Amino acid sequence: MARVQVGVVGCGGIAGAHLRGWKAIHEKEPDLAEIVATCDAYRPAAERYADQVAEYQGSRPQVYGSVAEMLGAGLVRAADVCTPHYLHHRVALECIGAGVAVQVEKPSGLTVKATKRMIEAASKADVLLATAENVRRGPSQRTAWWLLNESHLLGRARGFFMQQVRYEPPAEPQKAPRWHWRADRTLSAGGWVVDSGAHYMDTIRYLYGDVHSVYGRVEQLRPHPMQKHGLRAFDEQEDYFTATINFESGAIGQWSRTSVFPGHDWVQCAIYADKGAIVDPSGDIFHGPHGKAEVRQPGEPTRSLQDLFPAFLETLNVEQRKRLFPYDFSDGFTLECYDFASAVATGRDVEVSAEVGLKAKAIAFAIYESAATGQAVTVDDVLTGKVEVYQRWLNEKWGI
Ligand SMILES: NC(=O)c1ccc[n+]([C@@H]2O[C@H](COP(=O)([O-])OP(=O)(O)OC[C@H]3O[C@@H](n4cnc5c(N)ncnc54)[C@H](O)[C@@H]3O)[C@@H](O)[C@H]2O)c1
Repeated sequence: MARVQVGVVGCGGIAGAHLRGWKAIHEKEPDLAEIVATCDAYRPAAERYADQVAEYQGSRPQVYGSVAEMLGAGLVRAADVCTPHYLHHRVALECIGAGVAVQVEKPSGLTVKATKRMIEAASKADVLLATAENVRRGPSQRTAWWLLNESHLLGRARGFFMQQVRYEPPAEPQKAPRWHWRADRTLSAGGWVVDSGAHYMDTIRYLYGDVHSVYGRVEQLRPHPMQKHGLRAFDEQEDYFTATINFESGAIGQWSRTSVFPGHDWVQCAIYADKGAIVDPSGDIFHGPHGKAEVRQPGEPTRSLQDLFPAFLETLNVEQRKRLFPYDFSDGFTLECYDFASAVATGRDVEVSAEVGLKAKAIAFAIYESAATGQAVTVDDVLTGKVEVYQRWLNEKWGI
């Protein structure tokens, strides 16, 4: 099995978490993958990343300032794409065009149409296209899946309430946060709903199955000033959303957040099933359920997901355990990079393909589309493009 030569594109924030993953993989299975290229439009970021790779890998990747330059050198067999959202499809299409396998960070493309373009191109070129989705791979999420779908300990999922209300006072003008690409919806496509929300939409599909329809409200209730090159700018992301999420199974989810309601902060993260609930004290409505989440059943002792994890592990045969937790890795970034590299090396598919990523992000966009139209929206209509009001300006702007 030839070692997979990886190029990391976009060496910013989350690429650091991927780096820790690639390092952990290198320590256990050095023959699986090697980072041979780093690429960033801001070259010093790619240089710094290459230095960090060299420290553990022993060989320093080549450094590139553009994807075209990186692909032109012909060293890379797989690209790990960690760029801002508006570049996902452009970078992926360039790589696919060069026959390079691609893993793209969530939400894997700016809009639904962008992801479909990527999928069509990958299928035509017979190139692997994966979504980098770390959250569902964690021990607590896998244990929750087991409780709801296999062990029958909790029975059928009925629904969830993931809701957070908090108040963040407006920043004083001189302390306004610095502008970044997420603040511009032309570049990010939106805020919480599609950014961290892409993770949660994947997790809910993983735990409860496909979503039929949603009704959503997404608002910005007050301006959020920022500073851009010494000038005043504004954050365009939502500060309020609420969604009713209707699953094909009949389960119902309530998912809401705001950061601008004063006077009473509260948070609730609870999943309900026929025989009990999973209650997560983390207050994280995007990345749970976490290990400390309590499994509560009337008349039974309360246990956390981390307490129940060993019982779940015992149900796995050697092959299953190797697939879910190779080398007992438990970090989601390490697991997603391992899945990607070994899929490229062996020709098998990944767990979270671009199609799986698309189905998750389509729920997030159904919430925006519902808010834009004032109607309940089916996820199918968003996937087929029949409903495209919120996303149309983005597709037109970027020629998607
Ligand atoms: N899985 C997670 O938990 C998680 C968390 C945060 C971000 N993300 C995702 O990771 C991606 C990147 O987010 P981030 O927070 O790391 O952003 P970031 O701004 O910190 O990093 C993006 C990097 O891309 C580089 N870049 C910009 N244009 C480029 C180009 N044309 N070619 C090559 N590089 C270019 C930037 O210079 C920067 O270094 C997004 O898709 C985001 O949604 C995932």
